[in-house]
Amino acid sequence: MSMFKLIYNLHKKTNMTFPYYTFGYYNFPETFLRSKKLEKLRRKFYFGYLIKQLNKLGIDKNKFYLFYQQSLINCQDIIKNILEVQSKVPRSRYGGYPNPEVFYIIIRALKPEIVIETGVSFGVTSSFILQAMEDNNLGQLYSIDLPFEFARKKEVGMIVPKRLKHRWELILGDSKVELPKLLREVNDIDVFFHDSLHTYEHMMFEFKTAWRKLIKGGLLIADNIDLNNAFIDFCKEVKASWIDLVNVGFCLKK
Ligand SMILES: C[S@@+](CC[C@H](N)C(=O)[O-])C[C@H]1O[C@@H](n2cnc3c(N)ncnc32)[C@H](O)[C@@H]1O
Repeated sequence: MSMFKLIYNLHKKTNMTFPYYTFGYYNFPETFLRSKKLEKLRRKFYFGYLIKQLNKLGIDKNKFYLFYQQSLINCQDIIKNILEVQSKVPRSRYGGYPNPEVFYIIIRALKPEIVIETGVSFGVTSSFILQAMEDNNLGQLYSIDLPFEFARKKEVGMIVPKRLKHRWELILGDSKVELPKLLREVNDIDVFFHDSLHTYEHMMFEFKTAWRKLIKGGLLIADNIDLNNAFIDFCKEVKASWIDLVNVGFCLKK
């Protein structure tokens, strides 16, 4: 049975509101802090799906579970910070973020030296990427955010613990201006992650700009690929294969 069918059936049976991303998205970290039953289902169905997809990036089951467990142990202060922010800030202001443990797992497995992300907000994914780099003892993260949508200027990245900031450069501004500027200053990049403005035009702009500096074997990641066809069109244009982890797209540069 597919994960989506399972969630739909659960919803029908229990009358609980299960968005289709129940096992991976917005309910992190509440899911496994508050509900053992949901965490069990998450492991059984969502993880099965993740493992199958991540295998295509060369990440096997053993690595998946090892890094997943390490993310829970090593990101405890980050999870605490997330809960603290979420208890103070209204839901409408902290927006959405993709499953952060997946980012931890991928960074641990691929061991990138340079990662660029656009769209930081309070810094959930930034924190998990930075923790993975810290555990690899390798890597530098550059993050670009134009604070207008969710977090305010002073709040951008406030989840990121001080102890991880030595690997981090945060740039406040429009990625349309800041991304080309940054790419001129850094060496070739290993991973690019888009999570800023999800319009077709803006996504295409970021993908095309970052792709030129992405190394062979590098990874272009985008959140919310379901909102328009930019990601799929881009992958077709550059003739690259991709995987879809429930609306987070991963495109491998060969
Ligand atoms: C969905 S949130 C990012 C969530 C983040 N990845 C996390 O883990 O919490 C999108 C962020 O992108 C920012 N943003 C929107 N348009 C932007 C642009 N043109 N350039 C840079 N950042 C932008 C928003 O202000 C917001 O902070």
